[in-house]
Amino acid sequence: MKIVVTGAAGFIGSHLCERLLQNPEHTVIGIDSLVNERKIRLRNLIQLLEIDEPRFQFFPVDLLTADLQPLLDGADAVYHLAGVPGVRSSWGSQFRTYVENNILVTQRLLEACKGLKLKRFIYVSTSSVYGEKEGRITEDARTQPLSPYGVSKLAGEHLCRIYWQTEGVPAVILRYFTVYGPRQRPDMAFHKFIHQILKGDPVPVYGDGLQSRDFTYISDCVEATATALRADHIIGETINIGGHERASIQNILKLLEELTGKPVAISTLAPAKGEPRHTWADISKAQALLHYHPAVSLKSGLQREISDLKAFYKKELNS
Ligand SMILES: NC(=O)c1ccc[n+]([C@@H]2O[C@H](COP(=O)([O-])OP(=O)(O)OC[C@H]3O[C@@H](n4cnc5c(N)ncnc54)[C@H](O)[C@@H]3O)[C@@H](O)[C@H]2O)c1
Repeated sequence: MKIVVTGAAGFIGSHLCERLLQNPEHTVIGIDSLVNERKIRLRNLIQLLEIDEPRFQFFPVDLLTADLQPLLDGADAVYHLAGVPGVRSSWGSQFRTYVENNILVTQRLLEACKGLKLKRFIYVSTSSVYGEKEGRITEDARTQPLSPYGVSKLAGEHLCRIYWQTEGVPAVILRYFTVYGPRQRPDMAFHKFIHQILKGDPVPVYGDGLQSRDFTYISDCVEATATALRADHIIGETINIGGHERASIQNILKLLEELTGKPVAISTLAPAKGEPRHTWADISKAQALLHYHPAVSLKSGLQREISDLKAFYKKELNS
């Protein structure tokens, strides 16, 4: 199977490429413009490039302008993860970047996929499309994003739906809930917390720290995503991918104190705009359709992220 993965140098995209290549029948075409944080993106790709695997090809191109037909030629499936994530930076003039990379790029890619013999077009979306909800969120809950980021990802979902209904692009939408683990983006909470704790600096916390999230460990997330390649009866569906455990930020900081053996000082910031107070995925649909059973506990997932960041910041921490 020839599989195109966009956002291949990203946190999740790089893990997904590695997981897909475990199947010797797969060839993977990775696409990424390496926008911002180039050093981090190249580090994400190291394992893929170092193994010198002929079944992996990487194209450092911008999906907004690249000639997409040769990249998609002969593809059986497309995973679309490229985009600009992050709620807090999506306000103000930055929104243009979100419109371009999350909406226009998705439309451009779908347009290029029309008429191809694809078995799947898997669009990676987010719990941010839901907004504030009580209790477990099912996929049919009303979407009411609280941030421009959520709006841009929801627009991408609608584009997938209409290209499926009108043009037959076999779209599947996966809504991820806060993913963590090795290579997590530096703007994400756990990465920032661990980095600060290892340096002995205070940890920035928005609001009272009682906000909670459904945290999904990277290998669980990637397993569900890889299964979506062949699972039956999922075209046209939207599926939540949540984690093994929920926790509040305060719970997480206690766990990090225990796991790092270092005291945690908190620097309190005003509550962040555009963030829901709680997220909690109902994953019964993923269990039924993808046989998804997230297995990694927060304690063990955080331990793996700490080890990864200790290695990543080794020079800085030893200086
Ligand atoms: N990390 C999470 O917790 C989370 C949760 C929900 C949804 N998501 C979604 O998952 C996807 C991947 O997230 P991530 O955390 O790995 O982010 P990431 O920033 O690490 O990866 C995204 C990649 O897309 C690339 N990209 C952006 N615009 C591009 C363009 N025009 N052309 C080519 N490449 C481009 C970037 O260079 C980057 O490497 C995103 O679509 C995000 O919205 C992530």
